[in-house]
Amino acid sequence: MMQRPVMVADPAAWIAQDDAQAGAQDDAQAGAQDDAQAGAQAGAQDDGTGHDEPGPDGPVLFFCAAALEARHLAFRDGFPGDVTFAVKANPSEAVLAQLWAGGMRAFDVASPEEIALVRRVCPRAVLHYHNPVRSRAEIALARAAGVASWSVDEAGELVKLLECGLPAGSEVAVRLALPVAGAAYAFGAKFGAGPEAAVTLLRQVAEAGMRPSMTFHVGTQCTDPAAWGAYMAEAARCAQAAGVTLDRLNVGGGFPGGRDGGPVDHAPIFAAIRAGLAGFAQPLALVCEPGRGLVADAFAYGVQVKSRRAGRVYLTDGIYGGLVEAGQIGAGAFVVRGPDGQVRAGETAAFTVFGPTCDSLDRLPGEVALPVTLAEGDWLIFAAMGAYVQGMSSRFNGYGDWRQVAVAAL
Ligand SMILES: Cc1ncc(COP(=O)(O)O)c(C=O)c1O
Repeated sequence: MMQRPVMVADPAAWIAQDDAQAGAQDDAQAGAQDDAQAGAQAGAQDDGTGHDEPGPDGPVLFFCAAALEARHLAFRDGFPGDVTFAVKANPSEAVLAQLWAGGMRAFDVASPEEIALVRRVCPRAVLHYHNPVRSRAEIALARAAGVASWSVDEAGELVKLLECGLPAGSEVAVRLALPVAGAAYAFGAKFGAGPEAAVTLLRQVAEAGMRPSMTFHVGTQCTDPAAWGAYMAEAARCAQAAGVTLDRLNVGGGFPGGRDGGPVDHAPIFAAIRAGLAGFAQPLALVCEPGRGLVADAFAYGVQVKSRRAGRVYLTDGIYGGLVEAGQIGAGAFVVRGPDGQVRAGETAAFTVFGPTCDSLDRLPGEVALPVTLAEGDWLIFAAMGAYVQGMSSRFNGYGDWRQVAVAAL
């Protein structure tokens, strides 16, 4: 029989409870051990995601469904168009099912695996395949799955779609790339056509009998609303120069999560996007496809201190696991809690922080300020960890798996 997930108040309460349970288990082991009950207690923390066997002291992904619901509502209320979700940011059934239940009807997918996942969890969802480079085999599979919208950033990719029998009237979004700043890292170096090439592509899409749209991605964790404004102004110029009326404009993802541990307000970005509409000759339907900005803040990631030495700390997870983004865009904000759940405040010192694998590259960038009272068994609870953890953590050295725990608040 499936166990019902048990909700705990917050990560601190779970840590304290886990500690108390460990103590209780020690007592029980000294006397008569009740294995069945111990198993039920451990299982009661699990939400059924399958990530429940990370080892005895593995990382914990704290998921707050209420926070996800609140952020989804904020997008629906504040974004002046259709809100979709970039599945790659958090390819988990729990998140997809909740977004679907909350009224989301379209998802951005980037691979056959993501298509299959969405079809499994929400079979009637509309699929936007916005990875602009696809093999013919992937196109065939996506067509069979009923993909409704495609992006292209080069004539060869449009030709591929046409040769694979894309029916006339399909939505094809030309992906624009501009050298704008403001993101943790830009995506323009890999995908996207410059303005001149985008104009040519728009014409080709229209001539092929498809519905021309445009799309862009300002780069992930973008905190500058002006980036969206710059892209929208250029998209308007491209559409005018090509002489096409855009079917829709997809303003991508890039919305930031609270990696600094503070609250996130997307309202200035929504305002910039609303203002950007004025640059278009006709009223225009908008779509966004946030990944990080929608899901990151609904999760926190807890890793424990395995070993503390002079100037060095070894954690139960690192850059090959859930802290993978630390190596790319720096470790986000975290709180240190002792085994009783209490915050360890006070004086700090600089530590080199290593992950659990045998690779010396497995360390957080730079030196990390940690409390001088830090001890083995303490927890580092990283904020805004709902994006690019599930899909990107590897099982190198047998580490990197986590247990998911439902919390009422983060
Ligand atoms: C086409 C596309 N859309 C949306 C996203 C989501 O980006 P973010 O998580 O920065 O919102 C990505 C990320 O790679 C992407 O490639």
